[in-house]
Amino acid sequence: MNFDNPAPRLTLGYDLDSWKLYREKMHITIDLSPKTNSHILLCGMSGSGKSYLEQQILCKLALAEPDGEIHFADYKGDDPFQYLENCPRYYFFKDTLKALDTVHGRLLARQSGEDTSRNPVTLIWDEYMAQVLALTSEDKKAAAVVMGKVSEILMLGRSLSVRLIISCQRPDALAFPAGSRLNVGSIILVGAYIRSIYEMLLPDHMDLVKGRQFGRGEGVVLFQGSELHFIKVGAVSDTHRMEEICIKALGGKT
Ligand SMILES: Nc1ncnc2c1ncn2[C@@H]1O[C@H](COP(=O)(O)OP(=O)(O)OP(=O)(O)O)[C@@H](O)[C@H]1O
Ligand SMILES: [Mg+2]
Repeated sequence: MNFDNPAPRLTLGYDLDSWKLYREKMHITIDLSPKTNSHILLCGMSGSGKSYLEQQILCKLALAEPDGEIHFADYKGDDPFQYLENCPRYYFFKDTLKALDTVHGRLLARQSGEDTSRNPVTLIWDEYMAQVLALTSEDKKAAAVVMGKVSEILMLGRSLSVRLIISCQRPDALAFPAGSRLNVGSIILVGAYIRSIYEMLLPDHMDLVKGRQFGRGEGVVLFQGSELHFIKVGAVSDTHRMEEICIKALGGKT
């Protein structure tokens, strides 16, 4: 390990059992270094704590990667994100597709060699699946283009330092063409145990998960298809400070 320059890591929460048994805060962290696939898929039913965790991820990413560029796509225009509305890299409702175009454009420029920079570029997309379903019923071709771009970022992003963090209730394979869902490094499930979703995302880990129950902000993380942890997402103790950091992270002024 290089102690002068350790790989940046992002804490998602605490180990759920240690927390419940002893109130011990054993951090569960994601490796953000380019050698690791740091795309994230975050799933859970309504009210399970997806947006709450997403804001923490936005804030912690901004702190861990000061040279990074973050775009935030908020399809639903959710209340918890309203304070971000004047930020240049916050995109609401159908404008979220501009965020995708921008980030996908960065990927292509790096891939072609036109852009040799490798600072991390991240697109956080709240309610991706809901948007894809709405777009599919409006305009199938446009939806296919969107899904194709998402798929390319998932497949090519790691080596070019372009990262996708997607949240949705139910990430059906149809929204991830060419099996691109498999290119997600971390799968996070929060809230109530929904068997069909667990079977879809964690088919090889059902024995470990069976019989467990999860409340809001609690659930499972699977890293790189093999390392499974039960997780408790911590409560934010200084919302105002977190919001200031998030606003700055998206190019806004506080
Ligand atoms: N880990 C947590 N600790 C404390 N409060 C939480 C936690 N997670 C979520 N909450 C609270 O629970 C409520 C629902 O959370 P959130 O909005 O994140 O759910 P969601 O999964 O995004 O729901 P939706 O699908 O409706 O957007 C919010 O009021 C949020 O502040
Ligand atoms: Mg939400």
